[in-house]
Amino acid sequence: MHILITGGAGFIGSHVVRHFLKSYPSYTVTNLDNLTYAGNLANLADVDKMANYRFIKGDITDGAFLLNLFESNRFDGVIHLAAESHVDRSIANPTEFVVTNVLGTVNLLNAARASWQNGMEGKRFYHISTDEVYGSLGSDGLFTEQTAYDPHSPYSASKASSDHFVRAYHDTYGLPVVISNCSNNYGSFQFPEKLIPLFINNIRQNKPLPVYGKGENVRDWLWVEDHAQAIDVIYHQGKSGETYNIGGHNEWTNIDLIRLLCRILDQKLGREAGESAKLITYVTDRAGHDLRYAIDSTKLQRELGWVPSISFEKGLELTVEWYLANQVWLDNVTSGSYQHYYQKMYGRA
Ligand code: NAD
Ligand code: TYD
Repeated sequence: MHILITGGAGFIGSHVVRHFLKSYPSYTVTNLDNLTYAGNLANLADVDKMANYRFIKGDITDGAFLLNLFESNRFDGVIHLAAESHVDRSIANPTEFVVTNVLGTVNLLNAARASWQNGMEGKRFYHISTDEVYGSLGSDGLFTEQTAYDPHSPYSASKASSDHFVRAYHDTYGLPVVISNCSNNYGSFQFPEKLIPLFINNIRQNKPLPVYGKGENVRDWLWVEDHAQAIDVIYHQGKSGETYNIGGHNEWTNIDLIRLLCRILDQKLGREAGESAKLITYVTDRAGHDLRYAIDSTKLQRELGWVPSISFEKGLELTVEWYLANQVWLDNVTSGSYQHYYQKMYGRA
């Protein structure tokens, strides 16, 4: 079994690469990643010497490169995670999201289709997507696999579009695809532009915590290693042409989550109770900010037997401990060229 994992140097991708390398020593895993600001080979330092691992630096927006790659390798499966993934960046630069997330996915579909045209048996194209394609919920209800797509941000619109192309290649060309839509992930190796690692980083440095709007938006948080386990189960047992929602039944308003984070960090940093929370600063809301995401993952639990393994409180504590133990990693990814890029995009550090 030879699996191509795209975006394997990013946050979730690095956990998926590690999970497959360790769980399936007989598989060859090729990680294709263009190493954008979010891709970091240091995320894989503990596994990159394994005999069954290969890394290729390459760009999914380059269709000819992908056709060549699939011609010179016999991939049995693709797990596609490479993407631009941050909503705020998509608001600043939507076109980049169309090129990477839509065109990049179509290029990958074309390459898989060309490579597998003489026999799709045993092949699998697994597209990793987000619950954000379903849009925003009110105070109740959950996203199911039947919820109509209603994306609001350029990021979620680009992911929705890529999902539609993946389904179209199944229905039109018989490509053996599977899609999963997951809620917000948290854990180690997440780039500190997303809420949890950004706020951990700011708290340790005594910098303000920019809470968008009133902090009342709700997200459903899942431990990244539980996502990697769900991807394993869906890759091996999911039905072709099907979609599976992945989520932790774990809804938090941003402000409650941030206060919990502050309490954990007060304790870990030996600060007085309430000290970190003084850094909370309410700032202008994100444009088009979705109010609430919440996933119904009953189908995945019932049909494939997956359940999350860890409580949010435990997972968040482990996450805080990881970032505090890996401050060099945090300092590296927030210095130099990243800072330059970030300031250019947002005008703030
Ligand atoms: P990330 O931004 O941390 O990593 C993305 C990776 O893709 C990086 O390693 C980057 O270098 C690579 N990449 C970007 N453009 C590329 C290109 N043109 N060619 C090759 N590689 C390229 O993202 P993440 O948070 O790990 O998300 C991974 C996937 O999971 C994405 O598809 C995202 O939409 C999806 N997802 C993320 C979450 C979440 O909470 N982070 C939740 C649900 C779904
Ligand atoms: P984020 O981690 O960017 O994930 P997503 O937008 O994909 O859900 O943001 C999570 C929530 O936190 C979202 O409601 C926006 C909010 N947020 C802030 O309030 N301040 C911040 O600095 C960031 C990055 C996010």
